[in-house]
Amino acid sequence: MKVFVTGATGVLGRPVVRRLVAAGHTVRGLSRSSENATLLHRLGAEPVDADLFDLVSLQTALRDADAVLHLATKIPPSTRAWRLSAWAENDRIRRDGTHALVTAALASPTVKTFVYPSFALVYPESGDEWIDAENTPAAPTAIEATTLDAEAEVARFAASGDGRRGLALRMGALYSPDAPSAQDQLRIAHLGFVPVPGRPEGYMPLVWVDDAANALVVALDRGDSGIYDIVDDHPLRRAEIAAAIAAAVGRKRLRPLPTWLMDLAGGPGTESLSRSQRVSNSRFKAATGWTPNVRDARAGMPLLVRADAERAQEAAPSDAPERMAARK
Ligand SMILES: NC(=O)c1ccc[n+]([C@@H]2O[C@H](COP(=O)([O-])OP(=O)(O)OC[C@H]3O[C@@H](n4cnc5c(N)ncnc54)[C@H](OP(=O)(O)O)[C@@H]3O)[C@@H](O)[C@H]2O)c1
Repeated sequence: MKVFVTGATGVLGRPVVRRLVAAGHTVRGLSRSSENATLLHRLGAEPVDADLFDLVSLQTALRDADAVLHLATKIPPSTRAWRLSAWAENDRIRRDGTHALVTAALASPTVKTFVYPSFALVYPESGDEWIDAENTPAAPTAIEATTLDAEAEVARFAASGDGRRGLALRMGALYSPDAPSAQDQLRIAHLGFVPVPGRPEGYMPLVWVDDAANALVVALDRGDSGIYDIVDDHPLRRAEIAAAIAAAVGRKRLRPLPTWLMDLAGGPGTESLSRSQRVSNSRFKAATGWTPNVRDARAGMPLLVRADAERAQEAAPSDAPERMAARK
């Protein structure tokens, strides 16, 4: 299969590209810089110089593609996330970029599949109830509105018929040793504080990055058009996640961060991050046979901490000469 991937160089994009290449697919990744072109070559993909907001360049990029995986995003770092304006580029990618990409895909006679990783934390406060894409999302906050706009574009692709499939996969919050958000959370935990916002008894959907990547690859040729939830098998309450993080970083327990600080770090997304959302992955499992390898945060947090420590160790020797030079 010839697969065009946006966001191919991101936290989720890199494991997706590795899996696609290993499975024998031809992968073209949208690239906006020579660094990303080099990275894509290294991953075994072909970089394509295209602009997500330029229809002509997208039509050229999709010339004989069979499928599109649209992973581009610009979520601001936690130091800037408190400002609504910091989300403007992300909103533009989700709304205008997804519209342009779907329009280009519809113009191509070869593109039959469009897969988009959406966000699972769109549901209303649901207490202990199991929920999934059959439940109606909450009235969207400013930054959730464009997530739902992007899902509507995927539905527009699917509705065009002609054997086309469009799948929006609502992912839990990704955790990965490569994700800056996970590194921030570990830093907070090492300082002795709980790095997840919201009430301790509320459920928070998570998914390990490799399981999320597998789901996207599986969706290329399995599952009917529609919206599915990609989360781990056993969603945990925030207090249980905090206990899992504490155990993984070798602390008996973590203290809650002041609410005003969590609000600042979460920005306009804090409200949705704080609801109780016990999301089920069973519909996607039944539709495709996908199953996560990391069943919950109790299994995943030790992996995260170990991989983070290994990454820090690998970075240390190459940093050492620079640090020595800086000290002179
Ligand atoms: N992270 C999570 O917790 C989470 C949870 C649920 C769903 N998701 C979804 O998963 C997808 C991937 O997220 P991620 O965590 O892998 O993001 P990421 O690590 O921030 O990667 C973003 C990717 O998008 C590209 N990009 C940024 N601005 C672009 C633009 N204007 N035009 C084209 N490409 C652009 C980046 O490449 P450049 O180097 O060119 O900027 C990079 O390849 C997104 O759709 C996100 O909404 C993420």
